[in-house]
Amino acid sequence: MSNSKPASHHRRPPRLGVNIDHVATLRQARRGIEPDPVWAAVACEIGGADGITVHLREDRRHIQDRDVRVLRETVQIDLNLELSIEPEMVAIALALRPDQVTLVPERREEVTTEGGLAVSPRLKVVGEAVARLRDAGIRVSAFLDPDPSEIDASVKLGVEAIELHTGRYAEAREGRDRDAELEALRSAGVRIISAGVGLHAGHGLNYRNVGDVAAIPEMAELNIGHAIVCRAVFVGLEKAVREMKECITRVW
Ligand code: PXP
Repeated sequence: MSNSKPASHHRRPPRLGVNIDHVATLRQARRGIEPDPVWAAVACEIGGADGITVHLREDRRHIQDRDVRVLRETVQIDLNLELSIEPEMVAIALALRPDQVTLVPERREEVTTEGGLAVSPRLKVVGEAVARLRDAGIRVSAFLDPDPSEIDASVKLGVEAIELHTGRYAEAREGRDRDAELEALRSAGVRIISAGVGLHAGHGLNYRNVGDVAAIPEMAELNIGHAIVCRAVFVGLEKAVREMKECITRVW
């Protein structure tokens, strides 16, 4: 029909999950009570976030068990818990019951999550983590580099979503290098969608580079922390979230 819109108009822009780990980092700088990530979650929600993401690290350098417990009781949007695959961390997730767990690699000496999860070398442990979480009704996502063999291995283990690591894209120089990284994300996205798995992305995304990633076909969720919390220092968290939502929906 002449007035039918392109298919993309019938789909929805990706959901925005706001990672509030940095708010807890600021609190831990004084080991006090403020700023409380729970206040931050409320501001994000009012600003239009679709989800709250926190990483409970084994070394508890920022987010604490108490934060996840209170967030579980207060957050009305999706709560996404990033976690290593170690059985004791999975047990914590089973008790805390987030809506989604994103399995991430973890090395104590790293400043932030530095690469995707290496699934193939640890098939048994990852497989057990996925099965335990899924059996408990928790949606499982795996944080991966745009690497076909890691994607295929994760799909076989039954993950419901794959979050593509956008760090290399974010760090690449604008132009040919960045275009190549974007192409790697796009083709990994096609592979993920054809396997019937949800497509997510995150790491290093900011107000300038998010648009091209948000426009990848079938992109369902973006998890963004650093850029939003940095902007929040100047304009407040609610506005920083609203501006990021605008950057994401603008390309739709
Ligand atoms: N997704 C995952 C799996 C992460 O580990 C992180 C960083 O903790 C993010 C998204 C957010 O990255 P950034 O803070 O660079 O936006």
